[in-house]
Amino acid sequence: MAAKRTQPPIEFECIECGYQSAKYFGRCPQCQGWNTMVESEAGEESPDADANATDKGRPQKLSDVGSGEVPRLVTGMDEFDRVLGGGIVSHSVTLIGGEPGVGKSTLLLEVSAALAQLGKKVLYYSGEESALQIKLRADRLGIASERILLFTIGTLEDLKSHVREARPDFLIIDSIQTLTSKKTAGLGGSAASLRYVTAEVIELAKKSGITVFIIGHITKEGQLAGPKTLEHMVDAVLYFQGEAQADIRLLRAEKNRFGPLNEVGIFQMSERGLASVSDPSQFLIQNRQSQPPGTAIFPAMSGMRPLLTEIQALASESPFAGNPRRIAIGFDNYRLSMLISIIEKKLKLPFYKSDVFLNITGGMVIREPAADLAVCQALISSFKNIAPRPNSALLGEVGLTGEIRPVSFLETRLKESIRQGFSTICLPAAQIAQGRLPINHDISVISIGNIGDLLNFLKP
Ligand SMILES: Nc1ncnc2c1ncn2[C@@H]1O[C@H](COP(=O)(O)OP(=O)(O)O)[C@@H](O)[C@H]1O
Ligand SMILES: [Mg+2]
Repeated sequence: MAAKRTQPPIEFECIECGYQSAKYFGRCPQCQGWNTMVESEAGEESPDADANATDKGRPQKLSDVGSGEVPRLVTGMDEFDRVLGGGIVSHSVTLIGGEPGVGKSTLLLEVSAALAQLGKKVLYYSGEESALQIKLRADRLGIASERILLFTIGTLEDLKSHVREARPDFLIIDSIQTLTSKKTAGLGGSAASLRYVTAEVIELAKKSGITVFIIGHITKEGQLAGPKTLEHMVDAVLYFQGEAQADIRLLRAEKNRFGPLNEVGIFQMSERGLASVSDPSQFLIQNRQSQPPGTAIFPAMSGMRPLLTEIQALASESPFAGNPRRIAIGFDNYRLSMLISIIEKKLKLPFYKSDVFLNITGGMVIREPAADLAVCQALISSFKNIAPRPNSALLGEVGLTGEIRPVSFLETRLKESIRQGFSTICLPAAQIAQGRLPINHDISVISIGNIGDLLNFLKP
């Protein structure tokens, strides 16, 4: 007679707050969330899963912790490696967000091909396209590899078994919104379900020692569809963006546990796929020879790389007397208002009668105070309709009393300006006085002590 099999007791767990119970509830007794209880996996744990759990938990001496760089894999796609901080960190989980059509699938298919070339095995899950559609894209991009495994339209549970079977080095999920779990089927595409699936993928990655890229759609407001918490769960969050009129694509690190923030990778999209743009400054400043009124060139720092960007301003008579508009794209609105107030007070220019629009071209975002002086030039130059000096760039933070303050990374920014052929640069007088300018600079330096000096510099 066969012995009666003892089933492990079924446990339930709330995917919102983690509440555990032997009994199922339609509504979690702890966080009051509806339909958030799922069967817990406590009983399913594989025996080796916790093998080194004791090691993991035990405190170790700081001095015993191995030092050195985290291991990275350089894909050879320069701009992609750069944004990640110098290559892909093993066993990391990266979320890549972007609007539909920007090129996320293209990017990750090219990354897959680069990894396959390095002898890595990639499992590519697509819940959006059929294998044939992906094959058509691959043909267009000139990609064919037996190391890339495709798996289309399935559940999290299927994916897990494929990972166990195929043992890939990398897993690509295109997209997380299309990956559902049998356990959360009742939840539809809710935030809770998305979070659950993401958590499961991350756990799968850590247990199986694979590196994961998760594609996520973003909403019109620019947020990853689903909860912000998704961003907290992963190691890095990258945003892929496109310029409406151009074929330029920007990949920006919004969060990165293993690399610098605000690093931007620049690609050009064509029929043949994405190409790394090796000299992005040139792309961002195209008309420096004849700078029209309302513009200024600012040597920005994007992560650790200098990137010359063009700032454009438009000051036009406001139809809303007494309540003019101040609108900035790629720059802080409050900072723009502050700079306008400083110009108004110190230079007696009646900006209160003007609507002001400020734009950083190329879809760049500038958060550095070092851009203040360039923003002020764009504003004054538009307001007074005077063209900036040809081939000139500006650096300096503007204080509330109109004084110009020193900036960081001066040498790097200067070198890039010189490399791009700029002949004149405005710098904070205070910084020149410190005498820390790199000698032998091949550029004429204009000393700007306060906002009044800027006006004099601009006068024809
Ligand atoms: N035949 C083609 N020729 C040139 N570019 C194409 C072609 N097909 C697609 N693209 C480019 O690829 C983009 C779509 O890329 P895709 O990776 O599918 O985006 P996502 O996954 O972000 O929705 C299009 O917006 C277009 O720029
Ligand atoms: Mg896609």
